[in-house]
Amino acid sequence: MTETHENSGTPENEAEWMPRRKFMTRLPAYVGWAAFWTWIAGSSIAAIRYMFPKVRYEPPSKFKIGKIDDYVVDSIDSRWLKEHRILVVRNPEGLYVLKSECTHLGCMVSWFNSETRFKCPCHGSFFDVEGDVIGGPAPGPLVRAAVSLDPTGNIVVDTSQIATGPEDRKKRRFLLRA
Ligand code: FES
Repeated sequence: MTETHENSGTPENEAEWMPRRKFMTRLPAYVGWAAFWTWIAGSSIAAIRYMFPKVRYEPPSKFKIGKIDDYVVDSIDSRWLKEHRILVVRNPEGLYVLKSECTHLGCMVSWFNSETRFKCPCHGSFFDVEGDVIGGPAPGPLVRAAVSLDPTGNIVVDTSQIATGPEDRKKRRFLLRA
């Protein structure tokens, strides 16, 4: 006598159940293989990423900003603010370059002509035209970058050489005389 399923009652239904039963018994193996291949794929992606690390390109610290006559006397020029984060101050004496990062937490300062001062939008520090602090939490003056002329008369700014106080500013490389 052939054994039948209680609800089905026929041997044909028993035959239908066989593949499902087989699948159920093999399910742990399928899950195991899926996990294994997922792990292999993840490891391969990580290995490829390791071979091609993300590189952050910093702007160059040395660059040219044109000739001294390109800058109007008694003006603060912000044309290089976006590209190089500097402000160019031209006065009758010559020209100097201030880095635009506030010395408090590094926000970018802007020049306000009507108030004749640099202002930091983050926590309200103010700086005079020399870059000295006149208010707010900034602990020190704006930093000056070294300036020089190349053989063709172009101004070369070097932000890796900086003057952080009045004594440094007197050094020739921080003021380009007109
Ligand atoms: S970052 Fe300028 S005052 Fe805080």
